[in-house]
Amino acid sequence: MASTVNSPSVLTSLPIPCFQTSLLTFKKKQLLRFASKRVVSCRADNGEQNNADSSPSVDRFDRRDMLLGLGSLYGASSLVGDRFALASPVAPDWLRGCTVATAMDGDKPGKSVQCCPPSNTKIIDFELPRVRKIRHRPAAHLVDCNYVYKFELAMEKMKALPDDDPRSFKQQAKIHCAYCNEAYFQTRPPHDDPNQKLKIHFSWLFFPFHRMYLYFFERILGDLIDDPDFVMPFWNWDSPCGMAMPEMYVEPCSVLYDKLRDINHKPPNLVDLNDGLGANELKEQGIIFGNLSKTDQIRSNLCLMYRQMVSNGNKPTSFHGKKYRAGCRFVTDDECIPEPGGGTIENGAHIAVHKFVGAKRPPYNEDMGNFYSAGRDPLFYAHHANVDRMWNIWRTLPGKDRRDFRDRDWLNSSFLFYDEKKNLVRAKVRQFLDTEKLGYGYQKVDIPWLESKPTPRWPRRGQIKGGQVHGLRAETKKINVFPLVLDKLVRVKVPRPKRSMTKLGEDGDDDDVEEEEEVLVIQNIQVDRNASVKFDVNINTEDDETPIRPEDSEFAGSFTNIPHGMDHADSKLNTSLSLAMSELLKDLDVKDGEDIEVTLVPRQGAGLVSIGNIKIDYIRE
Ligand code: C2O
Repeated sequence: MASTVNSPSVLTSLPIPCFQTSLLTFKKKQLLRFASKRVVSCRADNGEQNNADSSPSVDRFDRRDMLLGLGSLYGASSLVGDRFALASPVAPDWLRGCTVATAMDGDKPGKSVQCCPPSNTKIIDFELPRVRKIRHRPAAHLVDCNYVYKFELAMEKMKALPDDDPRSFKQQAKIHCAYCNEAYFQTRPPHDDPNQKLKIHFSWLFFPFHRMYLYFFERILGDLIDDPDFVMPFWNWDSPCGMAMPEMYVEPCSVLYDKLRDINHKPPNLVDLNDGLGANELKEQGIIFGNLSKTDQIRSNLCLMYRQMVSNGNKPTSFHGKKYRAGCRFVTDDECIPEPGGGTIENGAHIAVHKFVGAKRPPYNEDMGNFYSAGRDPLFYAHHANVDRMWNIWRTLPGKDRRDFRDRDWLNSSFLFYDEKKNLVRAKVRQFLDTEKLGYGYQKVDIPWLESKPTPRWPRRGQIKGGQVHGLRAETKKINVFPLVLDKLVRVKVPRPKRSMTKLGEDGDDDDVEEEEEVLVIQNIQVDRNASVKFDVNINTEDDETPIRPEDSEFAGSFTNIPHGMDHADSKLNTSLSLAMSELLKDLDVKDGEDIEVTLVPRQGAGLVSIGNIKIDYIRE
């Protein structure tokens, strides 16, 4: 197998049918100088009203209640003023803080799941390994049978360990459940608070947490077969040849098999990175008309990848997700919402793959279709290896804002894992930014989505033809329709504020000032954590007869949720979706200062999600 380091700077020459290519014209990546621009957040004085209503205690549909909630929140914030000081990196501690996690789906009664790991009183700090050589995780569809044999052997040994061994597959699978389904507190005693449960999805914790999880998982596998050089495979779902579930995972007699999967999605079916559904389901739901051919599916997937990795994921917050600090529960600050908003890949391809693999088996959609059970499917780890690979590729894409956060609360966030010697280890995000320092990289394969830029459905259409009825065109509503329950297609006109002038850095030098990106922010998205929901966001669409697809520039992105809930009153997810739009608006020929029309298209769980507001922001990070 090839073993050179993945370098997306080499554009593929693979002839991918059915999409127009357009070479990226990036600016040369500039050298970053460390800029001391640490954002101090969670300040007591930063209590903007529009953020206050993000409290989960606020009723999700009633504006009046929202305002009431706002009042009580302000009251609360003055009472707990000292807690602002607690905003800090997350640092879970299960010596006393691991509680039972509960999974629940829809209205069905919750089911308790014991996810806590075996206890241990001694925690050691993680130290970077001594790296002798970089080992390359292979693409799962390209490995030979010797590799499969070795991998299966390692998995077999892991599965054979006693259930209470922290290295056993059962315990490893529970790690995901515990961190996702609120078994931990955000911080160590005495700062832990019953309301401060840790959530590692829908925020900047997503990539580093999962990277660490896989790293320790891989070390355990290698140790079990006495091969310190062992590396796990990645599911190369972002490339045409890797878009079906990798063969080694679908052999029913293999240790890599999981029977709780969607049997309709076995190979040769290709994953749908947009909806996570197969062509038949899409047809049944009226989402697509006619046949989605294999080439159409590939084109759609590649365009989505371009969108999520390149045009939408061009800032740390848009790629990684929004900031999340411990102790933020009481702070009325955008950066302190419990699940503030995931990045493009987390919210997009990542969730779609979970949905695609998980059995459509109500009420829980196990295994991959629910975060509490996802770790029980061996395919989860190959899926997340590719997610992890996306982070590596992203860091090498041109553009000076495609860089990791420098925020100390992110860098110092830590998680606990058992290593291959059963030591309980605390690892920090700052140690996991560069995989080569951890000793691994990824096999070099083609990256065809780099050239799969969406194209406008209606080229050069110019301005919005306000009010014009055209085919099934929905009536454009005024902006003040919010908050609303999204139960049908909604189109709103969104005014675009003046772009603020780019300020120079404090030293008068603008080298370290990020470029502004125009983002569409869908605020206060409220949905039951256990509901499967998806809606698309389209910009300046001409008519609604032909659904907009990811191949069209008008497609800005989607919001998706899969069940990951808790069985308590606070089971509502309150989050936001930010979609970078600069490139899209340019492609659609929208002039500066020209308003846009945003269409929200419910695609799954219509009526189960409400939206607080839509606005346009200009962001730097
Ligand atoms: Cu923690 Cu793919 O999820």
